[in-house]
Amino acid sequence: MINKRLINLCSDSKKYIAMTILMNWVSIICNIIIVFLIGIGIDQIYNNENVPIYLYAVVISLLLIIRFICNLLNSKFSYLSSTNAKTILRQSVYKKLLSLGVDYANKASTSTIVQVAVDGIEALEVYFGKYLPQLFYSLLAPLTLFIFLSFISIKVSIILLICVPLIPLSIIAVMKFAKKILKNYWKVYTNLGDTFLENLYGLTTLKVFNVDEQRHRKMNEDAEKFRKVTMKVLSMQLNSINVMDLIAYGGSALGIITALFEFKNGNISVGGILIITLLSSEFFIPLRLLGSYFHVAMNGITASDKIFNLLDLKENEKCEKYKSVVQKIHNPSITMKNISFSYDGKRNVLENINLEIENKSYTALVGESGSGKSTIASLILKMYQADKGTIFLNGIDIVNIPFNVLIKRIALISTNSYIFGGTILENLLMAKQNSSDKDIEYALKTAKLYDFVMQLPNKLQTHIGEGGNLLSGGQKQRLALARAILADRDLIIFDEATSNVDVESEEQIWKAIHELSRKKTILVISHRLANVKYADKIYVLNKGKLAEKGTHEELLASKSVYYNLWTVQRELEMVRGDVNEKNFWY
Ligand SMILES: Nc1ncnc2c1ncn2[C@@H]1O[C@H](COP(=O)(O)OP(=O)(O)OP(=O)(O)O)[C@@H](O)[C@H]1O
Ligand SMILES: [Mg+2]
Repeated sequence: MINKRLINLCSDSKKYIAMTILMNWVSIICNIIIVFLIGIGIDQIYNNENVPIYLYAVVISLLLIIRFICNLLNSKFSYLSSTNAKTILRQSVYKKLLSLGVDYANKASTSTIVQVAVDGIEALEVYFGKYLPQLFYSLLAPLTLFIFLSFISIKVSIILLICVPLIPLSIIAVMKFAKKILKNYWKVYTNLGDTFLENLYGLTTLKVFNVDEQRHRKMNEDAEKFRKVTMKVLSMQLNSINVMDLIAYGGSALGIITALFEFKNGNISVGGILIITLLSSEFFIPLRLLGSYFHVAMNGITASDKIFNLLDLKENEKCEKYKSVVQKIHNPSITMKNISFSYDGKRNVLENINLEIENKSYTALVGESGSGKSTIASLILKMYQADKGTIFLNGIDIVNIPFNVLIKRIALISTNSYIFGGTILENLLMAKQNSSDKDIEYALKTAKLYDFVMQLPNKLQTHIGEGGNLLSGGQKQRLALARAILADRDLIIFDEATSNVDVESEEQIWKAIHELSRKKTILVISHRLANVKYADKIYVLNKGKLAEKGTHEELLASKSVYYNLWTVQRELEMVRGDVNEKNFWY
């Protein structure tokens, strides 16, 4: 239960822990002296001697004041120890997440990270603030008491000292049993949480298929299982406390009874009995308290394993040339050379891809679903690393560009772009804090969202609900688009960025994007070939391989993959009636 790595990581907490122990120790010494003074006073009264009451009163008052101050300082040091540890751990986790970049999602689930960084670190508060100081103090206190009480009766002191280790032994015995129950508890608990969340997300679907009642019954069964296992944990904890109480009070009773026999044999005085009676329980109280901190601390230790799992995750990038690249990646051009990539190490998703995205050009990537288009975007953004080949950004291998430097130059708008709760303005300002009204108007107009926002009663201050739920799918997509335009990055990647937008607005948005390419480098990924007709260069992917490249006209003329895709899509949209004289199929 002493985690060396954890304590070394939070080494500043050590001095606060030592101070907490010292304060506790001074406090118990004050207590012992007070009890001894009372015992000596009683003996003096019993023997009809003169009792210096005023002197005793002054000394006892002074000791009580010292004890009070020690208790205050004890709380302060305990607080400092846990706050310091929590801050260091949170900073370490945060730094780790930053160095992992977006890649974190491939190594640990978001829920685990949230759990570790919030609840996990919180659970260590008791470990640093209470458990560790108490652990050392509960060794120190019985020994101190033993030394003092041995002046009264060595026999009683030895009996009390021998009973003390029974408490940690009982904790160890209970722990074996507890571990099993706690493991089961967490399993049932997380299962219940997962089912609950899933049912909540899918409630509409459950209603549509009329299976909500069935799911309801299943949830009730899970909840009942959880109730039972919680009761088991509680009864285990209560039983463990009962056992510790039994040892603590049984032990002190044994000490008191032995003291009475000693008194009968004339070995100790009346005052001695009083001192032993008052102090015998103090032998056990610190360990008894340690036992109750133990359960919470165990939770913290389990959490610390998770924290270290996260801190030990390997980072992909080693960017020694960090500073020298920052200046060189403005207005980037991208070159992919012989790129091959597989997600699982078995099936190649990309094979020997060579492509060039020129600075301030409009490049498009098309191909059937699953052909590897989004994967190319992920590689450019360093979410994954290519197995073979190199990606150059202005001639610099992106392996040498840290993610947080890279992301200041590139924006990605995809169907996964997240809209946050809050107002429309808050979502926009996320991209650029000091945006002017003109910038915002331009971004909204380009994304064809301006008219909609302006006719809302609260305009930019309109609240759009959690995840932008009060907006339609298309409106959310256009807001994400406006936000990316506002971010003013040099290279913007649009991955199916208008898939939820109606054909008319889509056409206008793509024209605006085309305009944008005079100032920015644009990479457009789209199923719909009509969207990328104006691109300077179109790359056609087919099952992870580059099939063709060229302008729209060149590709049509070569009558190959692109031409076939174009013909099929055009015919389909003609049947659906999407083609009209304004449409750019012509
Ligand atoms: N995270 C992932 N883990 C494993 N395989 C993946 C992952 N993402 C994509 N794939 C696989 O890689 C292949 C290419 O996927 P990708 O998303 O790049 O296709 P795409 O061309 O963007 O398709 P779409 O047009 O449908 O978006 C697919 O066969 C897919 O199954
Ligand atoms: Mg895709």
